[in-house]
Amino acid sequence: MIAYPPEPWRIKMVEPIRATTRAYRERALRAAGWNPCLLRSEDVYVDLFTDSGTNAMSDRQWSALMRGDEAYAGARSFYVFEEAVRAHYGYPHVIPVHQGRGGENILSRCLIRPGTHVPGNMYFPSTRAHQELNGATFHDVIIDEAHDPVSEHPFKGNVDLDKLRAVLDACGPANIPYVSVAATVNMAGGQPISVANLTEVCELAHHHGIPVFLDTARAVENAWFVKQREPGWARRSVAEILLALCAPTDGAVMSAKKDSFANIGGWIALRDAELAEQARGLVLLFEGLHTYGGMAGRDMEAIAQGIAESVEESMIAARVAQLEYLGRRLRDAGVPVLRPIGGHCVCIDAAATLAHLPRDQFPGQTLAAAVYVDAGIRGVERGAVSAGRDPLTGRNRFPALELLRLAVPRRVYTRSHIDHVADSVIGVHDHRDAIARGLTFTHEPPHLRFFQARFAPVAGASIFAE
Ligand code: F0G
Repeated sequence: MIAYPPEPWRIKMVEPIRATTRAYRERALRAAGWNPCLLRSEDVYVDLFTDSGTNAMSDRQWSALMRGDEAYAGARSFYVFEEAVRAHYGYPHVIPVHQGRGGENILSRCLIRPGTHVPGNMYFPSTRAHQELNGATFHDVIIDEAHDPVSEHPFKGNVDLDKLRAVLDACGPANIPYVSVAATVNMAGGQPISVANLTEVCELAHHHGIPVFLDTARAVENAWFVKQREPGWARRSVAEILLALCAPTDGAVMSAKKDSFANIGGWIALRDAELAEQARGLVLLFEGLHTYGGMAGRDMEAIAQGIAESVEESMIAARVAQLEYLGRRLRDAGVPVLRPIGGHCVCIDAAATLAHLPRDQFPGQTLAAAVYVDAGIRGVERGAVSAGRDPLTGRNRFPALELLRLAVPRRVYTRSHIDHVADSVIGVHDHRDAIARGLTFTHEPPHLRFFQARFAPVAGASIFAE
């Protein structure tokens, strides 16, 4: 028996979803260029495309929406939001943005000059895209274990300090505007960084006068893993650990669409008053006034309430247990699942599952297509399609991990949905030989190509054997 503790919530409102036939789904996916991202959500049964903005808000969050102060300037809701971020993340200067990538744009524009270098613990597509758009080169300094799908390392989000030192030596501290650290690391499968490692990274960077900025999108989940796995933290609350993770860093960029259960929103938070003033100036140009940053007052109220709920331990325990349950069901049935099971997703090693397909036929994208056609489950490729092309050489990047990510929205799906997902993925894995060929691009956008790309099977009309 795999543990599945009862959730600390009950369902007050439901949203109907629709099952379709296999023939219908194959037609829908072909019309969507074999890219599940281009499907209509009505045609999806269990949507595991992302845990971003797709979470169920609580009754308290919905009632907080009614308190939204929609004043253009100085809304009461901004001060409620500012106080929640300060109290739980510990940074003094809080600047709202419409979502995470809005904050990435602002921070990159403030700090990056062409020809500079940004080290980080694996990349996230939108984060790296903004760094590159502003002329920086990104350097992955995550530990090697993060690239190994079967390593059970408890902190696969850790930075390899030798790799960071090598970048410092090769590029020179003056050419490194900041170190970009994520907690957890999305592209590694939601893997955490330890407090000890993050503290060491900050010490090393600060020694060279370089600031460290944290991507806190899933830092609450990271704090949960610290409590479970890092010696010395078991008796501390998730809320305390969250503050401890942020404490050594110089600021953070947040997508409130993840941990904070909000459907939209984000923030930048900083310690340096001058940098904060510079960021506010750019927020005025790109996001909205510095007291709403592209959000409605009601969004800021929902986020403030969501932040308080996010550190409730029963909530986070139930979330992580649901993912662990899905991961273990797949693993026990022989599906090659990335280990350990992460904080927001279960990732299937698509390169191992579809070992008969070459990498340039995009096994991750192909597996995503097959899983959708089988039972209407939508995941997302996290491999070569997501990695895009090297801006200097123009060649496809082929990262070590070629994954199908099943990201589970918070408080949305029940155990029977999760069993449905497990049964389907196990079936697709058992009959993987029926997937005869992979995909090739028919339309390839220049940035974040995975969202809008269109594909066709490399031969014939379908990826399945006729
Ligand atoms: N950082 C991380 C670690 C993320 O996972 C995301 C978004 C962002 C930044 C950007 O935030 O979407 O609010 O602009 N991740 C989503 C995902 C899209 O599906 O993993 P955003």
